[in-house]
Amino acid sequence: MYNTTEFVRAYALTKDTHPFCLYMERHTILKLLGDIKNASILDLACGSGAYSRLFCEYGAKNVLGVDYSIRMIENAIESTPSDMPISYVHDNGESFRGDQKFDICFHSYLLNYASCNNSLKRMCETIYCNLNNNGRMVGIMSMLGKCPGNAITCCEFYTTFDKPPSEGERYEVYFRGQDESISNYNWSKESYHKILKFVGFKNIKWYLPMYNKSTLLTEENWQELITYPVFFAVSADK
Ligand SMILES: C[S@@+](CC[C@H](N)C(=O)[O-])C[C@H]1O[C@@H](n2cnc3c(N)ncnc32)[C@H](O)[C@@H]1O
Repeated sequence: MYNTTEFVRAYALTKDTHPFCLYMERHTILKLLGDIKNASILDLACGSGAYSRLFCEYGAKNVLGVDYSIRMIENAIESTPSDMPISYVHDNGESFRGDQKFDICFHSYLLNYASCNNSLKRMCETIYCNLNNNGRMVGIMSMLGKCPGNAITCCEFYTTFDKPPSEGERYEVYFRGQDESISNYNWSKESYHKILKFVGFKNIKWYLPMYNKSTLLTEENWQELITYPVFFAVSADK
């Protein structure tokens, strides 16, 4: 997954240009994070670092981006101005333990890569362990496995299944114009919640995508994204 430079570049471009990313994903993330001035932030599964950079633009003191795709980390480093206080590390979100603890752990589309309950638990423990004692986490998880196959037509990614995957089952996510697909796992909000609570998180809250409608998408497109939420967001305290 995320093995070719071409695929990673195509993915990275959508983060800064596609209306879904700008007016729904980013909008939700910034709303939930609130004031991040002077915060230290761990961006777990940072991908191309689009959100790491965004956090610096909004005043974060420092950001550490971690991802287990070497191509993603290369792209993140290439795309980050040298004066931004961001470091990137190639590591696994199931086991990473940093030298410092963070005020905030942010994770977007990490937990939907957990291939079994144990993998999900290890990821949630990683989020928890890297936070300082009054730290908080904000994350988003793909809910594409809950949307009917082919339901999302206005984004770069899509699924094709006839029958929705069962709980914890793997399914493929495709990108328009790309040969490579991505394997995700279909976890419910209840499964995520149970494990987040088990590892120690308190005050766990769930949110549907928030948005700021842009005319770059049609009214029909917006309806599609509202009817079939592509992700859920979560916040919690250590
Ligand atoms: C859909 S991308 C999201 C990237 C970024 N968070 C964003 O929103 O643009 C998912 C990322 O999760 C990373 N990933 C998946 N499983 C991981 C793991 N166990 N540890 C670290 N990164 C992981 C992938 O390499 C990929 O970069």
